[in-house]
Amino acid sequence: MSEATTNAAKSMDEIMALCKRRGFIFQASEIYGGVNGFWDYGPLGAQLKKNLKDAWWQDTVLTPPDGPDGKPVSIVGLDSCIIQNPKVWEASGHVGGFNDPMVDDKETKQRFRADHLWGFFLHAAPDGSADEFRMIFERAGSDPNFIPLFCCVASASGEAREFVVQNSKKLFKQFKLTVTADPADSDEFAAMTLEQNGQRFIGALAPVTGEALAQSFASIPSPFTHKAGSLTPPRAFNLMFRTYLGATATEDDIAYLRPETAQGIFINYKNVLDTTRVKMPFGIAQMGKAFRNEVTPRNFTFRSREFEQMEIEFFCHPDTTREWYTFWRDTRMAWWRSLGLTGDNLLLREHDTDELAHYAKTGAGTSDIEYRFPFTAPGFGELEGVADRSNFDLTQHAEHARAKLEYFDQERNERYLPHVIEPSAGADRGVLALLCEAFTPDPERASKVYMKFHPRIAPIKAAVFPLVNKDGMPEVGEKLHKELRSRFGMVDFDPKQSIGKRYARMDEAGCPYCFTIDSDTLTDQTVTVRHRDTLEQDRIALDKVGDWLGEKLKA
Ligand code: GAP
Repeated sequence: MSEATTNAAKSMDEIMALCKRRGFIFQASEIYGGVNGFWDYGPLGAQLKKNLKDAWWQDTVLTPPDGPDGKPVSIVGLDSCIIQNPKVWEASGHVGGFNDPMVDDKETKQRFRADHLWGFFLHAAPDGSADEFRMIFERAGSDPNFIPLFCCVASASGEAREFVVQNSKKLFKQFKLTVTADPADSDEFAAMTLEQNGQRFIGALAPVTGEALAQSFASIPSPFTHKAGSLTPPRAFNLMFRTYLGATATEDDIAYLRPETAQGIFINYKNVLDTTRVKMPFGIAQMGKAFRNEVTPRNFTFRSREFEQMEIEFFCHPDTTREWYTFWRDTRMAWWRSLGLTGDNLLLREHDTDELAHYAKTGAGTSDIEYRFPFTAPGFGELEGVADRSNFDLTQHAEHARAKLEYFDQERNERYLPHVIEPSAGADRGVLALLCEAFTPDPERASKVYMKFHPRIAPIKAAVFPLVNKDGMPEVGEKLHKELRSRFGMVDFDPKQSIGKRYARMDEAGCPYCFTIDSDTLTDQTVTVRHRDTLEQDRIALDKVGDWLGEKLKA
């Protein structure tokens, strides 16, 4: 089975059920019916997320790899506030421009993002090339956010037609759309989809984009009812959460919860320069909560309203942006791989120029590190973005705060505003990718599934099981448990239930090694070690368990 099929075959419902059952992730405010777009991490999830963030801090702040110049990379950490002076968000462009186009269905009261609506009419031949179609299908298939609307195929021909026919079938299946006509029979298919969707076409080869929606909202069928006439025009909706500072709660007291951790770094750039001995090029790293009032939070934790980011702003001379961009792109990709996101479930995708953010239009590039989540498969969803932000943010803050943010480079004898390469990762999306990757169905096991976490991020590193809760076995187990816990962190100790049930519980928790104390232990001072992935069992000396585990966890 290829990696692609493996992840496509995993059920998100089963993954979410395991997360709840084993205490990885709970719906926030669950006992009150939940709150959309918010998630709480249970004991195992909290440890898993901490392990991920610790690995990031260790590998980017404390021991980053050598840079493209062969010298150690200089990075320092920061922990800035969630609420800052609101002028920060005016300068950064978030007050004016951090908007999503929101559309309501007046009939069903459902809401969606205009740019997440997906659908098109393919009236292609003879002009439409197979490449044009391919681009549209790839885009539609790889974005987890798109809401499918409708798809009509009419009279495409030759290679293009073949491609459309094959892919429409796949997409209809993926989006669970009902097709009652065979896409290969273009006329019948077009008639059926027309009938089902009950509306006019948008135009030849025209994706139903946000712009198309703005112009023709009255004649575009609702993705929920497939009838026209109930959609509102798209309205700009600012994603920042607002709050008020102090007791009066007037317009003058408005403040915002940060929508990204990055700006906290830019506004402290001068403080860091003035108080540490960093020299260009250098980075400032920060992890922490960010908040976005997403119009349509969905796909478990993938698009939440409260989430955590792990961001680096790497400051460098403008002439060196390309080499630093390439360095960070490749370093970050290798890092995710090192945590077990291997194979072709991980993808590096360079952005097309029309996708670039306003601050990255002219830079060395922007790329996304994407993961094939079960809900995006066969497509991918963004895990981390690596962008050349040029000197956009520092220029904005220099202007708005009337601050001098230029750097005097003694080596070059030159004064300049540095450019910035930004690797910006989502901790929650990282955890979700690690959970999806680890989820391994196995009908042969009692648990029917096990979590194959890389030992470095596994929340529980080991478990100690006295075979029976008597005959001196619990005492030996407790001593071993104490030793392992002080050396390796979360280690489980469980003297009850059948050994099979205890192994099954650890398989679902993703614990890589279980040590069992049995009657032989009392005579020959050895224990059984059970390996999660292979199910093999060996015996090792009781007093060697700590060192043995230390070696295994290093690997
Ligand atoms: N400072 C740049 C920045 O914030 P972004 O692409 O908007 O860029 C960076 O966000 C990362 O934050 C994304 O790659 C993703 O992992 C995570 N992220 C963004 N919005 C999110 C959301 N609503 N829920 C969970 N994670 C999110």
